[in-house]
Amino acid sequence: MPTITIDGKSIEVEKGTTLLAAAQKLGIYIPRYCYHPKLSISGNCRMCLVEVEKAPKLLTACSTEAAEGMVVRTTSDKVKAARRDVLEYLLINHPLDCPICDQAGECGLQDYYMDYSLARSRFSMADKVRREKRRPIGPNLVLDNERCILCTRCVRFCSEVTKTSELEVMNRGDHSYIDLKEGKALDNGYSLNIADICPVGAFTSRDFRFKQRVWFLKRTKTVCLGCATGCLVEAHHNENVIYRLVPDPNPETNTWLCDHGRLTYKALQAGDRLKKGVIKNGLIELEPALREAATRIDEARGAVAVMGSPWLSIEDNAALARLARDSVKTGDYCFDFNFEQGIKDGILINKDQAPNTAGVRPVKAAYGGISMGELAGRIASGKIKLLLTEARAAALLKDALKDSGTRVVVFAANRGEIPAGAYATLPYAAYFETPGTFINYQGLRRRTTPPVAAPEGVKPLWDVVNKLASYSGASLGLDSGDDALKGISF
Ligand code: SF4
Ligand code: SF4
Ligand code: FES
Repeated sequence: MPTITIDGKSIEVEKGTTLLAAAQKLGIYIPRYCYHPKLSISGNCRMCLVEVEKAPKLLTACSTEAAEGMVVRTTSDKVKAARRDVLEYLLINHPLDCPICDQAGECGLQDYYMDYSLARSRFSMADKVRREKRRPIGPNLVLDNERCILCTRCVRFCSEVTKTSELEVMNRGDHSYIDLKEGKALDNGYSLNIADICPVGAFTSRDFRFKQRVWFLKRTKTVCLGCATGCLVEAHHNENVIYRLVPDPNPETNTWLCDHGRLTYKALQAGDRLKKGVIKNGLIELEPALREAATRIDEARGAVAVMGSPWLSIEDNAALARLARDSVKTGDYCFDFNFEQGIKDGILINKDQAPNTAGVRPVKAAYGGISMGELAGRIASGKIKLLLTEARAAALLKDALKDSGTRVVVFAANRGEIPAGAYATLPYAAYFETPGTFINYQGLRRRTTPPVAAPEGVKPLWDVVNKLASYSGASLGLDSGDDALKGISF
């Protein structure tokens, strides 16, 4: 365990620790471009140069291991001059794109130029190397080669994380550029991480480009509910509109995000987002839709079934269980989901596409109910006149519902989720619009924080259920999602 001194502070570190990592432990930030904590060390950008006593030259902090007795300086005049020179070198051929570049405001070149350089360019615009600009590359990215500083993070991400190796550095010297290998496409399911790790505006997200200047964005930490992995994310939003999701790296679950999860927020802005109820195929105001659903429930009393959903929060499932047991007073309710869970691609994407299979279990433990097989059997045999559930969960009973004559009333956030033949649909506030508790495949409990508000009049599902109960005669008395959680242990 070597002990070293960095900027006058001593630290003992594990053998093999780099100077950059040791400095980080002391709270000392060393600038970097090519270094990324989850990628192999490349040591090509030289931005992390530091002075080490007795070493004849400056050393790269990202690739130099700590050795007993080292005395390191990260802010000496020599180091500052080296940083200035590295920046001048990188900026020689960098275009003057900042006013139109999406990276502006979070760009490694801009930030370090302000911190360490502020020098005027000694090169004329006419002498700059020109490279290919604005080329769509894969379904999610645009590549601007002129902005690239050849740090190779993108190349290493594709070879080390997704192991799909689509990218390569072509040519040599100032003719070098990043390109796709012959016959490859950048569609590996995790490609948007490249826009995050590219330290400049060379790789940008096709979804986010030109939508919003980053300094206008507010940041809310929450959870991706695109599958049972439950990655932690930061939602970037402004004036009640989400513009992008980026990873909130954590040791338990995720450094990265998959492209599917990253774009789940778009359902909120889709043209089929439900703000009203739907009866048969017609849109109807919320109140009459609720009364209509309540009337149909009353009409079918004695033959009503309620099913929870692994796509809903624990609060919403608990409210449905209360509705079934205390208001509709049926024994035909089901909170029985046993999807296989686990990472299916060795990175993040889960075998279970529903975010809360594990979170429905405590609801079942508290309320009991019948199995999915029993419910399907009762529907198929014509004993159930009305089924109330969430739209995606209804698809699980598709075969049983066929020709059963059962009226289906669903809760849905988007029209595209509504199963064919549903009698009525009640809208509810979606994942990013209301708080909720979910349990991921590792058993980690996560509460979401809504970055935006639901459309006017659209309420959380537990609230819609509460209203439905009061319209059909027996109030559940739920004033909050926490009220619904009473009696549930998890
Ligand atoms: S495109 Fe971005 S991540 Fe890739 S080498 Fe260039 S600067 Fe680095
Ligand atoms: S792996 Fe699952 S939870 Fe993670 S980002 Fe993708 S969809 Fe979201
Ligand atoms: S961060 Fe060390 S050489 Fe690039």
